[in-house]
Amino acid sequence: MNENYRQTVLNLPPNPGAEILRYGWLKEDVVSLGQGEGCDPTPDFIVNAANKAMLEGKTHYGPVLGQPFLREEISQYYKRLMNVNLPANRVFVTASGTTAMHLALTSILDKGDEVVAITPIWKNLMGAVRLAQAEATQVPLKYENHSWSLDMDKLIDSCSSKTKAILIVTPSNPTGWVMSENEMRTLLDFTRKNNIWIVSDEVYNRSCYNVSHSPSFLQYAQDDDLLLTINSFSKSWAMTGWRLGWLTGPASAEAVIRDIALYDNMCPPTFTQYGGAKALSDGEDFIKQQMAGWKSNLDIITTRFEANDKIETYRPPSTFYSFFKVQGENNSLEFAKRLIDEQSLSLAPGVAFGNNVSEWMRLCFAVSEAKLNSALDKLEAAIK
Ligand SMILES: Cc1ncc(COP(=O)(O)O)c(C=O)c1O
Repeated sequence: MNENYRQTVLNLPPNPGAEILRYGWLKEDVVSLGQGEGCDPTPDFIVNAANKAMLEGKTHYGPVLGQPFLREEISQYYKRLMNVNLPANRVFVTASGTTAMHLALTSILDKGDEVVAITPIWKNLMGAVRLAQAEATQVPLKYENHSWSLDMDKLIDSCSSKTKAILIVTPSNPTGWVMSENEMRTLLDFTRKNNIWIVSDEVYNRSCYNVSHSPSFLQYAQDDDLLLTINSFSKSWAMTGWRLGWLTGPASAEAVIRDIALYDNMCPPTFTQYGGAKALSDGEDFIKQQMAGWKSNLDIITTRFEANDKIETYRPPSTFYSFFKVQGENNSLEFAKRLIDEQSLSLAPGVAFGNNVSEWMRLCFAVSEAKLNSALDKLEAAIK
């Protein structure tokens, strides 16, 4: 029976993160901090803009690469935020960051190509590489002195003549590691000389605790560099269910991405783009307010984890994830199941992000303080 389906799909590796989420959904009243999203709804000013668009009949097909006004708004957003000149013809609106990643990868990868990926990494991105029939080589970040760092020589040495792209998530899900400006410059220099693409997922670039945004490759790249960046409205503007994101590339990418997007989904949804434009033009106060709430939750976790000598962790500079390991719990999948069975608590197992972090766990703290404290009570009860 199965042989009727594509071998590439049948060979996709299991996704333990999705497995644990499904396992948790089977049980009632599970406190879930396993998925990467906040519990607050999208703010009204964004919802109202999309609602108005719908009532005005903005319910038809639109341009394949997004509404011109949103492409322009994204271009202006980069100018305001980072002083980057990115013309609207280099911005492609997509139906989610995930879709942007698929479009990016399928526009550059052929069967058998190699992608070098910095890990741990959000598993779905590795799935996207496999769906594009490419092979991924993992370069693990190093954990030392309570922080994660990249060995640049190792990353560069891992590239071969078959390497088509380097895949980077910065800030990183799950570690919160952020690639520095110097690292970006070094890597751009290397990829420019070797004709290798950089695919940079910058979905969490507004989720930093000490700065307004993390460094973006767009700040240091030349216009025609082989650079694709992925972004999304999901996290920074509480719009996970909207499925709206964007991709940037060199001007030459516009026609290529348009061709794939046309066959993939014809166009991103029309009325959601009005909400997206409003999020960018009027959303800075919301971002600040959301970050203040996440920071206060991070303070709570830090205090409680530091007081617990069974927990090894660090304070991430960005994202809304706490990544940690528990003494004696070496199998994160088993531990995640036990937490659901015994404590009705769902967390993401580290093994979902790479083999080198299979004892780690990820907890999303973009939730109410009460929910966070209840989850931490459950975790502490399970490991005492
Ligand atoms: C690194 C990373 N990229 C992309 C996404 C997905 O973004 P979207 O909701 O826009 O598909 C996520 C979601 O968790 C993520 O962690």
